[in-house]
Amino acid sequence: MSTLVTGIAELVTNDPSVGEGPLGVLTDAAIVVADGAVAWVGPGSAAPAADRRIDVGGRAVLPGFVDSHAHLVFAGDRAAEFEARMSGARYDGGGIGTTVAATRAASDEVLRGRLRGLVAEMRAQGTTTVEIKSGYGLTVEDEARALRLAAEVTPETTFLGAHVVPAEYAGRTDDYVALVTGPMLEACAPHARWIDVFCEPASAHAFDGDATRTVLTAGRAAGLDLRVHANQLSAGPGVRLAVELGAASADHCTHLTEADVDALAGGSTVATLLPGVEFSTRSPYPDARRLLAAGVTVALATDCNPGSCFTSSMAFCVALAVREMRMTPTEAVWAATAGGAAALRRPDVGHLRPGARADLAVLDAPSYRHLAYRPGVPIVRALDVPDR
Ligand code: NIG
Ligand code: FE
Repeated sequence: MSTLVTGIAELVTNDPSVGEGPLGVLTDAAIVVADGAVAWVGPGSAAPAADRRIDVGGRAVLPGFVDSHAHLVFAGDRAAEFEARMSGARYDGGGIGTTVAATRAASDEVLRGRLRGLVAEMRAQGTTTVEIKSGYGLTVEDEARALRLAAEVTPETTFLGAHVVPAEYAGRTDDYVALVTGPMLEACAPHARWIDVFCEPASAHAFDGDATRTVLTAGRAAGLDLRVHANQLSAGPGVRLAVELGAASADHCTHLTEADVDALAGGSTVATLLPGVEFSTRSPYPDARRLLAAGVTVALATDCNPGSCFTSSMAFCVALAVREMRMTPTEAVWAATAGGAAALRRPDVGHLRPGARADLAVLDAPSYRHLAYRPGVPIVRALDVPDR
């Protein structure tokens, strides 16, 4: 069954060979979808016949957002912590323990309901691929449970047993790292594609460079690919480790030295910026322009989580990237689609070349620029294209 989508005022393909600029923009365009994949893109006047037709009436269409960094398996909330921060309290990751306690106490049904609700909330705002981390269980059983639940809704599951050292291991980080790299990894690896570490020597709760290396090396030996929470609160060793170990992505990149930028520029690791975190923790934004000037591949993601940033909106992150990090609308939209796909090493999403997954987002607006131009307005949603 094929579907022709017509009436597209502006189509972002992310394929510069078919359209204008880095976003490969086609105006007055059409797209044909068949069996869940893009079959054809081109001018509306040249559109081939299809079994069915959807007219989007002069709207813009782009690849669905690829949110490459989210923590969606949790219970409880930390609104009080947010409120305290807005009155001057600093974010240091210490509140993660509150979510761990609530998550351990929650039933599978409660966690599944929250998780599915957030994934639906994302889709309603144009996100069609999402990465989901564990990290609020921090026991063998609770981490494996989080990943089993995450795997019900996405193939992009990430084992984050090394999120913080849980209270019962206080002062015994080495013992906790042994648990993470031993029985916990064994129980979690079958349900995960990725392994991640909160590498932050400046936090009393997170992990230093040595522990990060130990966890990532063990994860790789268990068949997982790597991503790192790096340089969020300070210019620690996370970014350089991520590049050295060939991680797909170094996430946050808020505090970077010259050596960090050089390492990113010389390697294949994507810098994933999470400006919702800086917004929600009232912190200085990462220097996106410096990364872009150095030729680093930049992605944008929400980091949706109950502590440092409880937004599920990629459009909000695009608006922040443009307003606060001085990315152009073009750069921000690329980073939220193709950039996220690069950060997840997914050649099938983040663009609309023939063969791509038929993940489309539609705007109640004529141009992708409106994502930043109309901040906070719900103009973007995933387009449901029936394939049977
Ligand atoms: O990416 N920094 C570490 N982890 C999350 C926050 C988790 C939380 O505060 O609950 C982050 O910001
Ligand atoms: Fe995170």
